[in-house]
Amino acid sequence: MERKPFYITTPIYYPSAKLHIGHAYCTTIADAIARFKRLAGYDVFFLTGSDEHGQKIQQVAEEAGVSPIEYVDRIVAGFQNLWQKLHISNDDFIRTTEERHQRVVQEIFRRIYEKGDIYKGTYKGLYCTPCESYWTEHQLDENGCCPDCHRPVQEVAEEAYFFKMSKYADRVLAYIEENPDFIQPVSRRNEMINFIKQGLEDLCISRTSFAWGIPVPMDTKHVIYVWFDALTNYITPIGFLDDKEKFEKYWPADIHLVGKEIVRFHSIIWPCILMALELPLPKKIYGHGWLIVDGDKMSKSKKNVVDPLALIEEFSADAIRYFLLREINLGQDGNFSRDALITRINSDLANDLGNLLHRTLNMIGKFQGGMLLPPQGESEVDASLKANAAEMVKAYEEEMESMQLSSAIKRVWAFISRANKYIDETAPWVLAKSPEKKQELANTMYNLAESLRIISVVISPYMPVTAERIWKQLGLPGEFSEMSLGDIRAWGGTPGDLKVGVPEQLFPRIEEEKEEASSSKQEVPSGKEKKDGEKKKQKKEEGHDEISIEDFSKIHLRVVKVLAAEPVPKTEKLLKLTVDLGDEKREIVSGIAQHYEPEEIIGKNVVMVINLKPAKIRGIVSHGMVLAASHEDDLQLLDVDMPVGSRVR
Ligand code: MSP
Repeated sequence: MERKPFYITTPIYYPSAKLHIGHAYCTTIADAIARFKRLAGYDVFFLTGSDEHGQKIQQVAEEAGVSPIEYVDRIVAGFQNLWQKLHISNDDFIRTTEERHQRVVQEIFRRIYEKGDIYKGTYKGLYCTPCESYWTEHQLDENGCCPDCHRPVQEVAEEAYFFKMSKYADRVLAYIEENPDFIQPVSRRNEMINFIKQGLEDLCISRTSFAWGIPVPMDTKHVIYVWFDALTNYITPIGFLDDKEKFEKYWPADIHLVGKEIVRFHSIIWPCILMALELPLPKKIYGHGWLIVDGDKMSKSKKNVVDPLALIEEFSADAIRYFLLREINLGQDGNFSRDALITRINSDLANDLGNLLHRTLNMIGKFQGGMLLPPQGESEVDASLKANAAEMVKAYEEEMESMQLSSAIKRVWAFISRANKYIDETAPWVLAKSPEKKQELANTMYNLAESLRIISVVISPYMPVTAERIWKQLGLPGEFSEMSLGDIRAWGGTPGDLKVGVPEQLFPRIEEEKEEASSSKQEVPSGKEKKDGEKKKQKKEEGHDEISIEDFSKIHLRVVKVLAAEPVPKTEKLLKLTVDLGDEKREIVSGIAQHYEPEEIIGKNVVMVINLKPAKIRGIVSHGMVLAASHEDDLQLLDVDMPVGSRVR
């Protein structure tokens, strides 16, 4: 069957400086949409690139003492490296300095000129070089500066070519009004309608005061205005001049994804150019919000520019992608902070997703020798898990289709929590003790592996590397890159006799050094002190000495969550637990291994003495103690359904 085409673009970036995390945000959104559409069976063309002409680039190259092309070659190589490291799956990368592009720009100029919609006149006006934008007096801000970047504008008076935008103003306005989906979100649409209603002047599209640009074909002392040049990038790589079939397949573009400040160029100037060329208009211009850093706009002078490469190096591309796409509602401004990133990595990636995979593979290894067994029959809780999976996939598809990337991934996470809860509800470690429950156990293991198979596909637009790692650890057959939404709409795609792999950690927890005393700075009692202490404790317990309420209040008891649990090597009784106290994480050693499987207690909220002096047990500093009730051979942790951090008195 012929696949439906889908064409998505990002803006092409100015190589006047290195890209920051805000640019990476824009490209990551487009990449997630492109990857989703591929999963949905579309024939996707995803374009990004670099916008290399203009006065600003000429200036920075001069300052750097190199020619403009040397300058942009170096910076653009950095862009391409960044996109590769961020796993951006663009199908082409257009550079406006390429010959294929220059030909298109000159041809378009010629066609519109011959039609009479470009004419020569004199330009007198105000120009903002950093924004490469012309402004009229009444558009300037209250200080007489550029209304976008608030820097001074320059007066220019020169012979120039003009594009008759005024001729198309009514048609563009009517188009915007008749097509509510053309500009999104709706707030941007309203801004554009108001902008056009104030009247559109003809646009000056050539300059003579500098040379770094594409020459006007019939008058080469002029170079073409950088936005006229840049916007046409969208039709160059899809064969506008040389491949009619390809062009008709992908044009009009499905989405031009752009930052909010450049919606105007895309939804007014670009449609006017396309109308003059008698080409159809793009289906959607989506203006996303800005990424700000710790509440402030990024700028060199504020020294708060976040380098995406350094972040990728430190935390991995997938973690950054997940954070950007989950944390910010598309269309609104969003905040980037290192603390918020680390919290997401620890709680969502290491904890929720990492534990689900780890517990599942561990149990399949331990209880079934690493093999899945074909499922048969289902319990109520099995049926509910399957129903939740189907609901999640459906809602996810709908939300991805409507570009609700943050809501869609939240759905997936609700399902991950559901699957973690399913482990507690089915208690496989109990099933494993009764041979007659073998099938029930097999069903549980199968359902968990199948849940993870579905999860790996739906997270792939967000975290392509992690998705494939999960797939491989599960030992699933086939090429991950060939998976589609069709493979997860129905339950049961995991083979019933699969040999699963060995669990590998997906995301290590990030432990930031705290200013306050860390456990290593605390006094760790020596072996002798510990023994003496234990003896005294035993004595007291036997004697049931009374203590005052003040004595009791010295014991700080708190509800903590068990984040990770693993046996202490070469011991039978000890488990090493990582617990979340609400404001910090700790490691403790607990003598409960004969009563609990590690998988059984991960995710439980238990009561802990948090001000116990640290003790070194088998080389591990244990900082605290979880409480348990014991009776004869039985032992149960005090687990409570209360939020982490609750004080126990
Ligand atoms: N070259 C023009 C686009 C031409 S498209 C035909 C341009 N380049 S840019 O490098 O300045 O910006 C490219 C994109 O990055 C814009 O969509 C802009 O909104 C986006 N971002 C720049 N800083 C950003 C943030 N802090 N946050 C989110 N997006 C940001 O404009």
